[in-house]
Amino acid sequence: MDWTKSNESTKQNQDIAGIPCTSLMWGFKRSFVNYIEGMSDGQVHLTDGASRHGAGFVFPFGYRQGSSLMFQGSVQFTGHFGMLNLNVEGLRLSQAGDRVSILIADEEVDGGQLMLASGTLNPASAVIESVRLSREGADLFFENYKPGEPLEDIQLCN
Ligand code: HEM
Repeated sequence: MDWTKSNESTKQNQDIAGIPCTSLMWGFKRSFVNYIEGMSDGQVHLTDGASRHGAGFVFPFGYRQGSSLMFQGSVQFTGHFGMLNLNVEGLRLSQAGDRVSILIADEEVDGGQLMLASGTLNPASAVIESVRLSREGADLFFENYKPGEPLEDIQLCN
């Protein structure tokens, strides 16, 4: 899996739960991506360093802030002639024990960050498993997903 390889060796020392970390890969919600890409005008825009490897979107590591890791990259889903517009950027993983909160930038929320989902870190595999949509996250989908909706696992590190 070459997405874990980074040219920026200075970032190799960053870690979560002791795992070196240079980027993360997340398929987000596969059925949602399929839904967008099945629309006649559906698009997935990758900017600010985000890339795509098969079903996964890759967000390069940005910096550490306390117990949080910040990632670069923006993945914007658009469709329905502008009525659907969801931007996944400013991705932040905040760790407390084996629980990881997944936040994204949202200027409509106090503090500018929305708690999208949370999951459980498996340190052996560096995968955040059992990722579930939060209540605030569900609001982004206008009732199409309920709080607790399963999202894809997040592959953290190499
Ligand atoms: C003009 C407005 C919209 C129309 C006509 C519309 C229509 C639809 C339809 C027909 C489906 C079922 C698709 C299927 O089962 O294959 C669907 C699913 C869905 N829509 Fe929309 N939608 C609209 C706006 C939105 C917006 C603003 C969001 C916000 C993100 C959204 C999020 C979703 C989600 C998450 C699903 C479920 C996808 C899945 O299967 O996982 N929709 N929509």
